[in-house]
Amino acid sequence: MSTDILVTGATGATGAALLTALAARGTTPRVMVREAAQAERFPGHRTAVADFDGPLDGALDGVDAAYLVTPSSERAAERQIRFADAAVAAGVRRLVVLSQYAARPDSPVRFLRWHAAVEAHLTTLPIESVVLRPNLFLQGLLAFAGPIAHTGRLGAPIGDAAVSAVDVRDIAAVAAATLVEPGHADATYTLTGPRAVTHTEIAEALGAATGRPVAFDDVAPAAFAEALAAYLPPWQLAGLVEDYAHYARGEAATVDPAVEQVTGRPAIDLVDFARDHASAFAAAA
Ligand SMILES: NC(=O)c1ccc[n+]([C@@H]2O[C@H](COP(=O)([O-])OP(=O)(O)OC[C@H]3O[C@@H](n4cnc5c(N)ncnc54)[C@H](OP(=O)(O)O)[C@@H]3O)[C@@H](O)[C@H]2O)c1
Repeated sequence: MSTDILVTGATGATGAALLTALAARGTTPRVMVREAAQAERFPGHRTAVADFDGPLDGALDGVDAAYLVTPSSERAAERQIRFADAAVAAGVRRLVVLSQYAARPDSPVRFLRWHAAVEAHLTTLPIESVVLRPNLFLQGLLAFAGPIAHTGRLGAPIGDAAVSAVDVRDIAAVAAATLVEPGHADATYTLTGPRAVTHTEIAEALGAATGRPVAFDDVAPAAFAEALAAYLPPWQLAGLVEDYAHYARGEAATVDPAVEQVTGRPAIDLVDFARDHASAFAAAA
């Protein structure tokens, strides 16, 4: 059966990895971009110019299955609900939506409440939905690769709590499978790494991969927030502090078998992530 797939967020972390995962399956999706000039970043793909805040029917017209990811934002739930409603109106058959590990309407973490609101809306729609709930992205460490390389230190308000952090390539592999294969309708998959790791273990893995020791500093939440205050808007900073308090309470340590069950291969380990990205973490050497 030929399936017309639309990928949103293709310039972002999971969307870009999804294009690679779909290519490995011989599938070339349509890509939604905000600006026509972004099309040149996706040679060989059809592109549709659309914005989550503007008309979406042109991008969704003729689409059979879509991957939906919006950037972290106070408007994330509103945007995703609007996109899902537009997908239903356009006759899209299946929506694969990026949520987050432990999404719950009563969570103390705002991001988890926002994701839960989208998940609840999806259950009311006449569309096959697949919800992906990834834990902390290992690739999120790449945002700190420069400082880690420069100082040899990794800081976070997490103590010795372990998190079953996941490699974005595994999120993409599951997204590709659920877009293309039958048998995933209305599934919710929690996506984790193959083990829960502490930040001390993450620092050790980065040190081993780069050949330069990396030490972990347990930072007080207030100091963590102060260090990032110049770079993040208040809602995002507060949400990040909530996220780390949730990790520090040990609430994100469960290992889920979904990656292996859906892809047929084990989830990518921290050691493999560190090896594959060693050059980024060693860049300032
Ligand atoms: N980071 C984590 O550890 C983690 C863990 C679990 C879940 N999550 C969830 O992951 C999601 C973010 O996923 P990601 O990291 O793959 O995304 P990302 O890297 O932040 O990329 C966001 C994408 O959305 C596009 N975009 C931004 N504004 C848009 C608009 N108005 N209209 C259309 N497209 C727009 C961006 O395109 P441009 O290039 O045009 O800006 C980009 O391609 C969030 O929902 C977050 O809650 C994150």
